[in-house]
Amino acid sequence: MKMIIQPRDERTQPARIIAGYPQTPLRSPKEPLVKRAPTLSELSGPLEVAKRVKLLGGDIAGQGEKQAIGQLIHLRVRVLDEDGAPVGGAVVEMWQANAAGRYIHPNDDDHAPPDPNFYGAARVVTDESGVFELRTVKPGAYPVPTRDGWWRPPHVHFSVFGRVWLARLVTQMYFPGEPLNAQDRILNAVPDAAARDSLVARYIPPGVEPYNALVFEHQIVLRGRAATPAQP
Ligand SMILES: [Fe+2]
Repeated sequence: MKMIIQPRDERTQPARIIAGYPQTPLRSPKEPLVKRAPTLSELSGPLEVAKRVKLLGGDIAGQGEKQAIGQLIHLRVRVLDEDGAPVGGAVVEMWQANAAGRYIHPNDDDHAPPDPNFYGAARVVTDESGVFELRTVKPGAYPVPTRDGWWRPPHVHFSVFGRVWLARLVTQMYFPGEPLNAQDRILNAVPDAAARDSLVARYIPPGVEPYNALVFEHQIVLRGRAATPAQP
């Protein structure tokens, strides 16, 4: 089967260099891109990633005395391929700030308190219907350490390993109705409005399980014209 590689759609993908986000110039090519055919290693593998890595489980909010502080949320995310078919067996890594907006990372400063019961990362695998679920707390907003001090809205980072290396996607998910979404430089580095909207989860009103958490549903498309925008 010959795989058709869609060229990067600049409207639905973020600008390579995001103003005010200092890391992006370092991660972007300085020379014009060279067109080449994808190699076999890019069109195949990684094989059985789920067996090669340690899965961490989808409950990172903790239980009992060890519960993280914050609004309990339940994320239900479906991973699809370019044809809209579910991608089962995909390894998904996620990381997020705690409810106060603090990461467990040496680079994060002390603008907000750490939560000893919240590590803030998970590694799960999608089921046959392409779905993975996470029980966590809603991440807080946090300031970006630049001179003009802009703030990131609440968001969750995802890295998804699809069926081939070219289908690996690193992106972020945002929450609906957040005032900081409209000003976020990373979300708004995606020029196309519909593509930006595809990065925002859908709030599911109460009445569905689990009943003790706010439920958000989301969809990640790994490749193709409807691909979820990458986010640094
Ligand atoms: Fe972040």
